[in-house]
Amino acid sequence: MRILGIETSCDETGIAIYDGENGLMGHQLFSQIDLHKQYGGVVPELASRDHVRRILPLIQSCLDEAGTKLIDLSGIAYTEGPGLMGALLVGTTVGRSLAYALSIPAVGVHHMEAHLLAPLMEDEVAEFPFLALLVSGGHTQLVKVMSMGEYELLGESVDDAAGEAFDKTAKMLGLPYPGGPAISELAEKGNSERFRFPRPMTDRAGLDFSFSGLKTFALNTFQKEVKNEQTKADIARAFVDAVIDTFLIKCRRAMEDTGLNQLVVAGGVSANKQLREGLHKLMDEYGGKVYFPRPAFCTDNGAMIAYCGYLRLVRGDTNSLDFQPKPRWSMLDL
Ligand code: KG4
Ligand code: ZN
Repeated sequence: MRILGIETSCDETGIAIYDGENGLMGHQLFSQIDLHKQYGGVVPELASRDHVRRILPLIQSCLDEAGTKLIDLSGIAYTEGPGLMGALLVGTTVGRSLAYALSIPAVGVHHMEAHLLAPLMEDEVAEFPFLALLVSGGHTQLVKVMSMGEYELLGESVDDAAGEAFDKTAKMLGLPYPGGPAISELAEKGNSERFRFPRPMTDRAGLDFSFSGLKTFALNTFQKEVKNEQTKADIARAFVDAVIDTFLIKCRRAMEDTGLNQLVVAGGVSANKQLREGLHKLMDEYGGKVYFPRPAFCTDNGAMIAYCGYLRLVRGDTNSLDFQPKPRWSMLDL
């Protein structure tokens, strides 16, 4: 089975081809970061228009990269949600129409399930059941994964997602969009002793998160201090330390609650160096193992959609012609 995957949920046009026998045959990505940078965040209408411009040439270059043709495809997968409605409409319309024209099945993929399963494309993979920490721009969730499609939500953010908190705090410090990588890099130059930010919701039971207070804490600290590069780096450091420490505390708690010691981490924030180092140390302590996607597949990409779509199509899941993209969609409804 050879599947074309299409990702257009936000600000990346991602196209890939996954084959049941050959694995990943090609993947192409066009990031709109430069387009949105000047506005300090994603402008939905510009995102949709750019997906329209990029999608067909990108599909063609992905087919060329994979050395295959449209007629060799056995199915098409596209991100059905969650995401920006206009952006989702581009990928779902192109994908569903192409499948109709080729008379092959089409399947809509849940963007967060695709993130969650992305680490399974690597050589070393977790075995079911395992824990998953999903950390992207729109979601922060701790999930117990019994098998594909069988998910139990253990905890989630009650306000901002982790990536969102990274982006907003970075913006406040005058760093460019997307803030996650920028603030992490600046944090490397910061002194961890100067400021200490709270570890939100760790003093009470449960596995939920809250990150919006950290952004305010960073802002209040910044307003009180002399505004120079070192202060910014020290605030970045205090912020990153607080976020990572919070994740470590909750992951430890989730392992103790469930008795599971395999952890899969996915979504844009899983590219974070400090998070990776911290979780490796934690899992060593528990005799467990943590699995990440390769850096290119932490943030949005077409490969995870092609792979997840492949798994869904193998199970016989398909979209009829009258489906609707879902800007809001809980993974628990799968
Ligand atoms: O998964 P993703 O590409 O898109 C969504 O599905 O939301 O995640 C994007 C988020 C952004 O908020 C970005 O700032 C964050 O992931 N991010 C990072 C890093 N790389 C990307 N956050 C912290 N450290 C990073 N290295
Ligand atoms: Zn994503």
